[in-house]
Amino acid sequence: MPLSRRFTLTQYLIGERRRYPDATGDFNALILDVALACKAIARSVAFGELGGVLGNHAAAQGGSVNVQGETQKKLDVLSNQVFTRFNEWGGHLAGMASEEMALPYQIPAQYPRGKYLLVFDPLDGSSNIDVNVSVGSVFSVLRAPRDAVASGRDVTEADFLQPGAAQVAAGYALYGPTTMLILTVGNGVAGFTLDPNLGEFMLTHPQLQVPADTQEFAINASNSRFWEPPVKRYVDECLAGQTGPRGKDFNMRWIASMVAEAHRILMRGGVFMYPRDTKDPTKPGRLRLLYEANPIGFILEQAGGRASTGQQPVLEVQPGALHQRIGLVFGSRHEVERIERYHREPLRHEAEAPLFAERSLFRH
Ligand code: AHG
Ligand code: MN
Ligand code: MN
Repeated sequence: MPLSRRFTLTQYLIGERRRYPDATGDFNALILDVALACKAIARSVAFGELGGVLGNHAAAQGGSVNVQGETQKKLDVLSNQVFTRFNEWGGHLAGMASEEMALPYQIPAQYPRGKYLLVFDPLDGSSNIDVNVSVGSVFSVLRAPRDAVASGRDVTEADFLQPGAAQVAAGYALYGPTTMLILTVGNGVAGFTLDPNLGEFMLTHPQLQVPADTQEFAINASNSRFWEPPVKRYVDECLAGQTGPRGKDFNMRWIASMVAEAHRILMRGGVFMYPRDTKDPTKPGRLRLLYEANPIGFILEQAGGRASTGQQPVLEVQPGALHQRIGLVFGSRHEVERIERYHREPLRHEAEAPLFAERSLFRH
């Protein structure tokens, strides 16, 4: 058998570090800890029913809900523990924040504190666990404020409220037919496939690029009556196909696992929408800004794609709260730009007026 010439994740990180002669190695060690957590979660996911990890988390009989009011799966809770345990001891982090924890997680006193913040959704798409469909983990690395690093003080919610453009790195692991890790350290996007024999992530997809055009879109159409007019217009035009204004047929996908949708789009193009809608005025969108929209936005933009709220680039949004939700559109650049243009253009048809009124209500 010919000897593999593939790079490992560790080798890739060493290569990237050579661009920064002053780098201490803390950052690389942090990413390797995150990758180890992802490997541990991949193993739990792979055992499924055999590992006793399917179903809801059974705290106090009635199950448990997280800060979002969502029922936690056993694997949500387990994955959150894996992420915190594997990343708390290394001395690279000042603190962490997660979808599954209401407040920032403090590095326990027995471990040194470092200069980065780690924000994550430990298990994305968890409604898919029990039906054996792909799930993933998604993470974002930020710098901790200088005074926090200097004093070693506890981190606060405010420390995490940095726009996505400030991210140092972002990535996701996809637990699908193969386990993959997709990573950006701000120098393009690299994809790694887990070699289950070696237990190593191997560089299989260097310099990923999202095609600028596509004929595939993803949206949860059961929400269509709550969509704002620009989104309705975009989807209607896709559905009209070859005889409509777009002059081509579109295909549709919905996995209900954002990480899996992002991965499909990275591999072959497409557009994903979970836009702001009028379903629940207290929830401006479904997905969370700090640990879903921002890391996926950074990855997509680094791959030549685009990520937007519809109104502005998602990476420019100044967060107001740790668990803030946001409308999110990402994918092939020309399609996302078109959706942004529809948000800027005034309504063209009388028929759209009632919906516009609804939007006005929503916007107060
Ligand atoms: P999570 O499992 O972390 O709560 O995230 C699920 C998210 C996202 O992955 C997916 O795109 C979306 O929720 C699915 O929403 P619907 O159930 O409305 O389709
Ligand atoms: Mn999620
Ligand atoms: Mn989750």
